[in-house]
Amino acid sequence: MNKFLELDNGKIVESKNSYHKDDILKIEKIERTYFVDSWNIKQINSQFKNDDSLNFIIENTGDIISYCLCKFNDEFIEILKIATIRNYQKKGIASNLISNVYSFAVKNSLKKIYLEVRESNLIAIDLYKKKGFVVDGIRKKYYVRSNENAILMSKNINYP
Ligand SMILES: CC(C)(COP(=O)(O)OP(=O)(O)OC[C@H]1O[C@@H](n2cnc3c(N)ncnc32)[C@H](O)[C@@H]1OP(=O)(O)O)[C@@H](O)C(=O)NCCC(=O)NCCS
Repeated sequence: MNKFLELDNGKIVESKNSYHKDDILKIEKIERTYFVDSWNIKQINSQFKNDDSLNFIIENTGDIISYCLCKFNDEFIEILKIATIRNYQKKGIASNLISNVYSFAVKNSLKKIYLEVRESNLIAIDLYKKKGFVVDGIRKKYYVRSNENAILMSKNINYP
């Protein structure tokens, strides 16, 4: 499921609901800029096509400025990728995307959102903590290329 959103006067609103090949290329470029373990076009393409994926993409005047790529099953949803390009960072965009993931989880009666993050990525860890994620554990030397530990984090979905 691919949900395109648009930044409109600082607000995030629904936009188109289908994607073009260009969107894959734009995300691939952002991946190369912001991730050591960036996804290639094939990976992004299959993420966009999978039935068990949830993808939020935020655009501003035709450019992709942020995205959050997830996969889910009957019980859990995992955030696989989340990024905001530099000029739009610290404006609450990634926080908003995480709230959207949470709403999806509630609507689909899921139990938990989980993710993993590099131990050195203090900005992302800070963001997740602010959004109510807790640390579940550490996977030692999970990131082979950089020999870095992964921090496993999750957030339970609360139902009244
Ligand atoms: C991590 C990332 C997705 C945050 O995106 P964002 O849209 O800027 O996030 P938000 O504006 O919603 O920030 C929410 C919180 O994150 C933290 N944060 C975000 N940018 C920060 C910065 N430059 N310095 C310190 N903390 C920062 C803060 O806790 C912030 O809360 P605050 O605004 O109350 O201080 C973005 O920095 C990014 O794309 N980084 C590169 C890719 C990456 O590391 N992705 C995560 C992989 S697990």
